[in-house]
Amino acid sequence: MTTPAPTPDLACDDLLPDDPARRAHPVPLVLLHGFPLDRTVNREVARQVAGVRRVLNVDLPGFGESPAVGAFSIPDLARHVRHFLMRKGALPCVLGGLSMGGYVALAYHRLFRADLRGLVLIDTKAEADTPEAKANRDRMIDIANREGSAAIARLMLPRMMAPAHSTPGHPLVQRLMEVMSACPAETVAVALAAMRDRDDYLQDLLTTDLPVLVVTGEHDVITPPSLGEQTAARCRRGRFARIDGAGHMAPLERPEAVAGAIRSFLADVH
Ligand code: MLT
Repeated sequence: MTTPAPTPDLACDDLLPDDPARRAHPVPLVLLHGFPLDRTVNREVARQVAGVRRVLNVDLPGFGESPAVGAFSIPDLARHVRHFLMRKGALPCVLGGLSMGGYVALAYHRLFRADLRGLVLIDTKAEADTPEAKANRDRMIDIANREGSAAIARLMLPRMMAPAHSTPGHPLVQRLMEVMSACPAETVAVALAAMRDRDDYLQDLLTTDLPVLVVTGEHDVITPPSLGEQTAARCRRGRFARIDGAGHMAPLERPEAVAGAIRSFLADVH
């Protein structure tokens, strides 16, 4: 277990609805990005949901424009997010996470359930890494340390988006490559170890009394839609949305469809 450093001020888009009645809604949506990414991948979804709720779109420590905190575990990231949200007066909230951000959201739920009014799990899963996945994390850590973030980005890119968005020269390929390559290699290595060592959160998710929205891209090969749909069906208050034409980066690939699913979920979450 690591000893978390004090929480720095995290970079965040804090977006408010124009309509004063909606602005006053006491339960904002918080969005956490995936690995090795930053809040720009969720930015369009955040902007579109901010028509109906306050949205805080956060850079996790060490990612994007947020300062690094040294070594961290997935629960450490959840603790940092909580300190930050307390400072921002953003609790209780609906907590949403894309892929690694979903792992952080699930760790947050285990630690601080009382802060939450709902969970939005996007292109992610509750299960821990398999032994094969853990061995692959070790290989990736070695590559990050020896060759840097661009090498990790090149390895990951082909599996990140739907075939239609993965063609050479596609603007989304370029954008994702830039974001992934900009992630500091130290953060990449620490995050890989944190994901490798994360707990299994499936039982927590299946037994929670919170409303849960599971969102998965139709062509997501990392966390397939069949898994998302089954998980949502097993949750006590689960709902599933498949995002047609998207892969593992649904918020980047089809932001309007992801925002639509979240907006309709939020209409029932108070
Ligand atoms: C992510 O997009 O955050 C990663 O695919 C998560 C993972 O590697 O498990």
